[in-house]
Amino acid sequence: MFPWFSKKEKKIDSEVKFEPEGKIPKHIAIIMDGNGRWASKRKLPRIAGHKEGMEAVKKVTTAASKLGVKVLTLYAFSTENWKRPDKEVKFLMKLPIDFFDHFVPELVKENVQVKTMGYVENLPAHTQDAVINAIEKTKDNTGMILNFALNYGGRAELLTTFQLLAKEVKNENLSPLDVSEEKVNDALMTGFLEKEFRDPELLIRTSGEERISNFLLWQLAYSEFYFTEELWPDFDGKSLKYAIAIFQKRNRRFGGL
Ligand code: FPP
Repeated sequence: MFPWFSKKEKKIDSEVKFEPEGKIPKHIAIIMDGNGRWASKRKLPRIAGHKEGMEAVKKVTTAASKLGVKVLTLYAFSTENWKRPDKEVKFLMKLPIDFFDHFVPELVKENVQVKTMGYVENLPAHTQDAVINAIEKTKDNTGMILNFALNYGGRAELLTTFQLLAKEVKNENLSPLDVSEEKVNDALMTGFLEKEFRDPELLIRTSGEERISNFLLWQLAYSEFYFTEELWPDFDGKSLKYAIAIFQKRNRRFGGL
């Protein structure tokens, strides 16, 4: 059914079938992991893996948009990624420039809007410019939102959110007992999304690691998780369809029966 997976990879169910009429997750979040390992396997420098990872971003964005996904959130750079060697960080900071330079016309054609979450103001000026420019050029598009988490961390996001709400309380615009889930949802970095699209229905992580690494700590409370052995540069539209096929088989109960 899905011949692109090698037999030795586990968790492949040949009975899993993508249903075009079935439920498509409105919001998919992806931890794109395994670029470095993809490169090492080919005796290439790690940055070659990131470059190929960028190509995977293009394929998966186009596939998600065509499948009717409303929001695709990609973990492109975490607040912890600054610890990597200088050369790698510099390369990662240049990737959005390359990506948007070549891909914005395609995004416009696909009616995709670019957005970001994270502490973008702390990125180098040239990275910020590329991102701001892509947001501007795609702002009138009405289709899928391609949301890049850049310099993002889940705990930092929660702290910023609590600080915002604490300030509201201090200024007596909000009483402590009125700090509700809704108020937190509004103040989070996903607050710009329509309410029904804020929380991912499906989280995908590639490369065989099974953890969330400080991603969307609040928003993932009820998400379905799909972990695959595939390395991010190998992930493509077919892989995405398989992940959605798995999602379609799951029975989400949100704590009910
Ligand atoms: C994790 O793989 C990947 C990253 C930290 C960077 C992700 C970035 C991209 C996929 C390209 C993003 C594209 C744009 C347009 C911003 P890793 O390096 O941790 O891999 P490893 O675990 O195998 O070492």
